[in-house]
Amino acid sequence: MKGRRLLVLSGLCMAGVLTSLTLPQQSDPLLTIMDDKLEYSQQLLEAIVFEDFQTAARIADELHLLSELSSWNVIRSPEYTRRSLEFQRVANRLAEVAEERDSDGLALGYVELTLQCFACHRYMREARRVEKEPQGPVLRGAWIR
Ligand code: HEC
Repeated sequence: MKGRRLLVLSGLCMAGVLTSLTLPQQSDPLLTIMDDKLEYSQQLLEAIVFEDFQTAARIADELHLLSELSSWNVIRSPEYTRRSLEFQRVANRLAEVAEERDSDGLALGYVELTLQCFACHRYMREARRVEKEPQGPVLRGAWIR
């Protein structure tokens, strides 16, 4: 039991460190949805660790729904759209394996989901950096808020 709690705690810490490292703090109300995303992914980790398949399936669905909200679309670019669709695919897959009560599938799916968080945030940073460069290449087809 102690081991399990430790695992959850270290997972939560990892998720926290992950986001605090990758993103500046912002207070834009539109970003509430982004904070929800973090909360859901932490809850998802807990559900997976305790093999609570029903909760895992529900949260995976919520994550998919979040990514369909218009406020999710902070950047309009083909790359951002592609990454969002990929995120939805992983969330769908997570919901499926949760319904099949497949704990290995869930664990792998969670790792895949986390990689999606990393990849999209890295893309965002790069897109902003390029946009700020006076002589830098123009980010074709992108609109950044
Ligand atoms: C398809 C792109 C994409 C994916 C995938 C993605 N994010 Fe984000 N995330 C964003 C964008 C865009 C922002 C807004 C910040 C910005 O404009 O740089 C953001 C912001 C955040 C924030 C900061 C909110 C704030 O108040 O500043 C958190 C926390 C966050 N994401 C967590 C996550 C987690 C956890 C995952 C994976 C489960 C994830 N994100 C996956 C695009 C993405």
